[in-house]
Amino acid sequence: MRVLVVGSGAREHALCWAISASPLLTKLWCAPGNPGIATVAECVPIGVLDFEPLVAFAQDNEIDLVIPGPEAPLVAGLTDAMEAAGIPCCGPSMAAAQLEGSKTFTKEIADAAGIPTARWERFEDAEAARAFVRRRGAPIVIKADGLAAGKGVVVAATEEEALNAIDAIMDARVHGDAGAAVVIEECLIGEEVSLFALCDGETALPLGAAQDHKRVGDGDTGPNTGGMGCYSPVPAFPPALEQAAFDRIIRPALAEMAERGMPFRGILFAGLMLTADGPKLIEFNTRFGDPECEVLLLKLRSDLLPALQAACDGELDNFDLRWNDTEAVAVVMAARGYPEAPERGSIIRGLDRAAAVPNVTVFHAGTTQDEDGTIRAAGGRVLTICGTGKTLSEARAAAYRAVGLIDWPEGFCRSDIGWRALPRP
Ligand code: AMP
Ligand code: GLY
Repeated sequence: MRVLVVGSGAREHALCWAISASPLLTKLWCAPGNPGIATVAECVPIGVLDFEPLVAFAQDNEIDLVIPGPEAPLVAGLTDAMEAAGIPCCGPSMAAAQLEGSKTFTKEIADAAGIPTARWERFEDAEAARAFVRRRGAPIVIKADGLAAGKGVVVAATEEEALNAIDAIMDARVHGDAGAAVVIEECLIGEEVSLFALCDGETALPLGAAQDHKRVGDGDTGPNTGGMGCYSPVPAFPPALEQAAFDRIIRPALAEMAERGMPFRGILFAGLMLTADGPKLIEFNTRFGDPECEVLLLKLRSDLLPALQAACDGELDNFDLRWNDTEAVAVVMAARGYPEAPERGSIIRGLDRAAAVPNVTVFHAGTTQDEDGTIRAAGGRVLTICGTGKTLSEARAAAYRAVGLIDWPEGFCRSDIGWRALPRP
């Protein structure tokens, strides 16, 4: 198979790393990729939203399967563009990607399918939104309705915070048009977990679960990020609960989407809150999480490529995935200043030493490489350092040992990834 992965983060590095091990692979490309990805795939300098050049590249190179990593191209219709040119693409159509692109759409699907989720209301009028907040009080959750790069959500502990969020999203439009409307939700209390399924429009295959660490600082402090680290499996989400979430959340969503004539193909990611009343849906995403993808693929024993192809072809029934009996941890290293204003250009040394630690895999995200091979930071999240082991403690120790070997004074990471699952001192 000739395969094209689309994206340039650590998630896409992990996808390329897994696919490059497939005996079915003839050649792997990644657009645009990064220096880590370049060690397992040929990188092509085409942006993830440059559909015309992407389609032309896929045609010229007789690509058998396109695998999109990030959400933006899916929401903008990459799958439709590829399919119109006769190229199989393992992602949802633009219509189905509304599950990530529109919070209102997701809430309507959830309500229609009887999926447990927070009560909600949508407002296009800022004054009406403010009145609702004054009536309901805090805690309360304010969300920009559109895509806001994971930054459009304010969990307001006080009424004032909620009102300020409405000002910022709707009046000041800090997230642009994503703030034309807000969704206001009941605040759910509990631990969060990310649950993944590979879907072919009808059948959903479990891909496991991980717990992300969204806040930038130790102890879950500071602003939200794309994710600073994660681990899998999650003790707070044992197999019976995972099964229940699959049956009450993933499967009904898939059935509802099929019924509406927009069958969901690709990776369905349910962000869940483990409340006292059981798992409730916070949001859907229509792709792998980052860094969740990295830990899940480290645990996958089966060949990923035929699974993605089966999802694309609608042939997941009777398909089975096998998993390694290991635990995995991902520690994200970010550039100083992340998430607000990451510093660019600093030199990263010691990557080979880190990658040589037993049970460690290093994935690149925002890096660039000079002609002499020097690796530099070129984004917010820069590296994902993963460890595996028989226990979470072993996996974590391996990952942090590797982190310690990386010589990058301008970088930082959280030192407490996995803390909720470790014995309390
Ligand atoms: P989202 O972009 O919808 O994933 O929201 C980002 C984060 O906000 C989630 O990961 C949760 O931590 C939090 N959040 C979103 N909705 C709720 C809710 N209804 N109750 C509590 N926390 C929420
Ligand atoms: N780590 C969360 C996400 O990818 O959205």
